[in-house]
Amino acid sequence: MNETLKVISRRRSIRSYQTEQIKDEELHEVLEAALLAPSAANVQKWHFAVIQEKDLLDRMVIDIIEAVRNSGNKFLTDVVSRPDHHTFYHAPTVVIISGDKSSPYSQNDCSAAAENILIAAESLNIGSCWIGTFLPLFASEKGEEYKKKLVIPEDYYPVCAVALGYKAIDNVPTPPRKKDVISFVKKG
Ligand SMILES: Cc1cc2nc3c(=O)[nH]c(=O)nc-3n(C[C@H](O)[C@H](O)[C@H](O)COP(=O)(O)O)c2cc1C
Repeated sequence: MNETLKVISRRRSIRSYQTEQIKDEELHEVLEAALLAPSAANVQKWHFAVIQEKDLLDRMVIDIIEAVRNSGNKFLTDVVSRPDHHTFYHAPTVVIISGDKSSPYSQNDCSAAAENILIAAESLNIGSCWIGTFLPLFASEKGEEYKKKLVIPEDYYPVCAVALGYKAIDNVPTPPRKKDVISFVKKG
């Protein structure tokens, strides 16, 4: 297996982080990888809000829990109601990736950037986790307030977030993968 494939297969969602902040050089390398992701027609209508302020992240979690409970989503309400719930797992860095509301490809573009962040982070032995649970916050009345605070452009909306930090656990088992999801159509 080559190095790229090893990194892809080694990457796991990390849900326990050290409090130590990742180095700026590492953050910039990871963000550079995000900017190198493909986007439809190379429009790059995405925005990356990097949050490294613990108090703000903790306050966001309180507001996320409230927004999720008000959303009526039973699955997510059960998730955020766990006693030790922290939407970002206390990661010291969170990147919120937003896309242009007017582009039909924003979800794809932002997701491609998110995956590049996950892979780049793993290549530097930095833990990461894709976070979707935060989204109801931006559909709530506090959403606009947070968009302003995070300097997310007005015509953009959050698509996904990635938590980043040094891993507090290692050897996370690989959740099982389905094998019967590929079909081959070959000549003859
Ligand atoms: C769109 C999307 C949303 C996700 N949201 C969350 C989340 O809110 N919290 C979380 O802990 N993991 C989240 N994950 C991570 C998945 O649970 C994880 O990728 C999956 O269980 C496979 O595990 P692995 O990443 O270790 O291979 C999300 C993944 C994706 C692609």
